[in-house]
Amino acid sequence: MSLINPIFFLQKAREKGVAIAAFNVHNLETIQAVAEGAAEERAPVIIQTTPGTLKHAGIPYIAACVKEAAKIYDIPIALHVDHCPSYKTIVQCIQHGYTSVMIDGSQLPYGENVELVRKVVETAHYCGVAVEGELGRIGGVEDDVFVDERDAAFTVPSEAKEFVEAAGIDFLAIAIGTAHGMYKGEPKLDFQRLSSIKEVVDVPLVLHGASGVPEASIREAIRRGICKINIATELKIPMADAIKECFKNNPDENDPRNYMGNAKQAVKKAVREKIRMCMSNGFADELKRL
Ligand code: 13P
Repeated sequence: MSLINPIFFLQKAREKGVAIAAFNVHNLETIQAVAEGAAEERAPVIIQTTPGTLKHAGIPYIAACVKEAAKIYDIPIALHVDHCPSYKTIVQCIQHGYTSVMIDGSQLPYGENVELVRKVVETAHYCGVAVEGELGRIGGVEDDVFVDERDAAFTVPSEAKEFVEAAGIDFLAIAIGTAHGMYKGEPKLDFQRLSSIKEVVDVPLVLHGASGVPEASIREAIRRGICKINIATELKIPMADAIKECFKNNPDENDPRNYMGNAKQAVKKAVREKIRMCMSNGFADELKRL
């Protein structure tokens, strides 16, 4: 298959009451782990990269690897740029075949955020690419973006409705109490707020900062309308642990195929668990019949 625009499967996921897992990748091994894990679970999947990863690996390399993965596995795969503040980077991603983009203007005043997002929507839609926007501010650390707990701001339902209509986005990331990175205590999600947003907003809703959120809360969020779940840290941790374990057992190890091979298997295991948590296992085959 070719890479696809994720709108169709996000809408279908929402109708069915499941969510599509969106995994942040960083290199060849994480791309392979996500694609293989999703294929084994027969799940549609979103593979996403932050601007930091684009700087590290290069847009052409990432795009080429994910395009190959989509050809190898018979599951729908979308390639998405996550939390990108730059119009120029978004255009470069689209030129290399990304099928979905997130323009993050959440640090801007409301009017400027809408203006930037509209500009991205116009370009992306012209190219058949989907656009995610964010309203409210999700706390925690993602790349060089650090949002202090005190600056995190929950999404206001009436503003979300106005933002989606004014900006013309295809799906909306909302802030309801999750944060990027791991939590010190158990995160408390504002489910009532999520339901209120769902009542007034038509487009699929996205939950960022899913690492460390208990499965019961994820399931409740899906039940109330979340249909894209972003996961980054809970892939990074098993990857780092597997590499550390490898060097602990054999301090002289110097073959990347060994330590990265172990890391890939650990990431793949986490990918499969998260897909089952989102209940999208088997959904790739159901989509073919829709
Ligand atoms: P976590 O690192 O908390 O999983 O957050 C991922 C995310 O929201 C990426 O946008």
